[in-house]
Amino acid sequence: MAIKFKLIAACCDNMGIGKNGDLPWRLKNEMAHFTRMTTETLDANKKNVVILGRTSWDCIPNKYKPLAGRINFILTSRKLDVSQFEDTYVFYCWNDIVNRLNDANFKQKYEDVWVAGGSKVYEAAMSSEYFYRLYLTRIKKEFECDTFFPNLVSHVEKVSDTRVPQGIQEEKGIQWEIEVWENRKLKLDN
Ligand SMILES: NC(=O)c1ccc[n+]([C@@H]2O[C@H](COP(=O)([O-])OP(=O)(O)OC[C@H]3O[C@@H](n4cnc5c(N)ncnc54)[C@H](OP(=O)(O)O)[C@@H]3O)[C@@H](O)[C@H]2O)c1
Repeated sequence: MAIKFKLIAACCDNMGIGKNGDLPWRLKNEMAHFTRMTTETLDANKKNVVILGRTSWDCIPNKYKPLAGRINFILTSRKLDVSQFEDTYVFYCWNDIVNRLNDANFKQKYEDVWVAGGSKVYEAAMSSEYFYRLYLTRIKKEFECDTFFPNLVSHVEKVSDTRVPQGIQEEKGIQWEIEVWENRKLKLDN
């Protein structure tokens, strides 16, 4: 099967995704959505791959590393020692990631490929030929941020997906809603 990148992100009204190497908000249910979407598989013998930039990996508290029940891919230019972490691999470029995802043995092990940020990682995934869908949580408030979601590419259309919470959600007095965008080029090319 062809590789399909599913991007998952949460951004606020000013398109921010991060501040000081952390999330600008603490929304438990929104985080639970991230965990469920990136972890669940149809085939119980397979796991999903989650691709993270090195800064986003660093942001995960040690007790939550690696992201449990998922195969963690980290993009970096540095020598990172991840030998203590199960199912965790370091990559120095996207090409190596694609080669691993296409490897016949590795293909037996994974189901979906989730791209989980940050900024440049989303941008590269969204402009790649493998971009399939973007699951974007719109947090309906402005937060002070230093990291932002890139501009959406123009060749996307909104689709519905019953697996995500439907309509406006609210927690801690903050409203959020999930938009699902699909790459129209994939449909046209197939
Ligand atoms: N709201 C959300 O949905 C969400 C999701 C994810 C992250 N975040 C937030 O966003 C912030 C982190 O994001 P960020 O954009 O600053 O950083 P990031 O994308 O997580 O990491 C950037 C790093 O990734 C590595 N990298 C990226 N592309 C690469 C490539 N093509 N080849 C090799 N290495 C590559 C480089 O690591 P080296 O420097 O090691 O070379 C680069 O410095 C944090 O505040 C985090 O909490 C928010």
